[in-house]
Amino acid sequence: MLISVLTIMPELFADLLNSPVLARAVSKGELELEIVDIRDYAPGSFRHIDDSPFGGGAGMVMRCQPVLDALRSCRARGKEVCGQEGASRRRTVIMSPAGTPYTQEKARAFSGLSHLILICGHYEGMDARIYSHADEQVSIGDYILTGGEPAARVVIDSIARLLPGSLRDASTREESFENGLLEYPQYTQPAVYEGEAVPEVLRSGNHEKIRRWRLQQSLLLTRKMRPDLFAAHVLTAEEEELLAEADREPDNTVSVE
Ligand code: ADE
Repeated sequence: MLISVLTIMPELFADLLNSPVLARAVSKGELELEIVDIRDYAPGSFRHIDDSPFGGGAGMVMRCQPVLDALRSCRARGKEVCGQEGASRRRTVIMSPAGTPYTQEKARAFSGLSHLILICGHYEGMDARIYSHADEQVSIGDYILTGGEPAARVVIDSIARLLPGSLRDASTREESFENGLLEYPQYTQPAVYEGEAVPEVLRSGNHEKIRRWRLQQSLLLTRKMRPDLFAAHVLTAEEEELLAEADREPDNTVSVE
């Protein structure tokens, strides 16, 4: 998979490969990262990438020409790297606080693409004519960053760990959000730490009991910590039964807060 980032601050990506998961994905050939400096597409010695807004107002607006020329060149390179088939599995995304919320589901969808182009906005915004050249806008949360770069880093990280061979498959399939629930609590040695013991069931060796306990904990944790996710989750018969059982036995409460 090729991920291209269009930015006016390429230096913000210089340390990306310090992440072992990203470095492994790149060295295995599962991921190619291309950081494109939008300034390289701005003509003249001033490398003019922004201008004041029509109609007045504070701040500067990113100009169409450098961004769209960078995008065209990036798409052409994507076709070279991924081939014609690859180009059909390409998506152009603008990082923006006005975008749709970024989710694990979206990370999985993006990880199946051949070419993902992330455009990082800056200043007060981008010329509105740029947006129609992208497939979508994505936000990583309801807060305003100084630019799209930190958001693009979040997206790249979440995708890299899903690429084949990055992490053990089961560890990503069972984690939080993959089934619409938060992950169950995990423990390791020692069995008792400062008087606090690991739940007995996890040391029982009974795999079915462990599976049911974990599912029950996931449900309780999600209900408590993320009522929005819980409301959107359709309970199976087994899940209904596990919740009813936990509610009958209030001792059986969420162990991690
Ligand atoms: N650019 C500025 N803020 C952002 C956010 N919350 N998500 C994505 N891109 C952004």
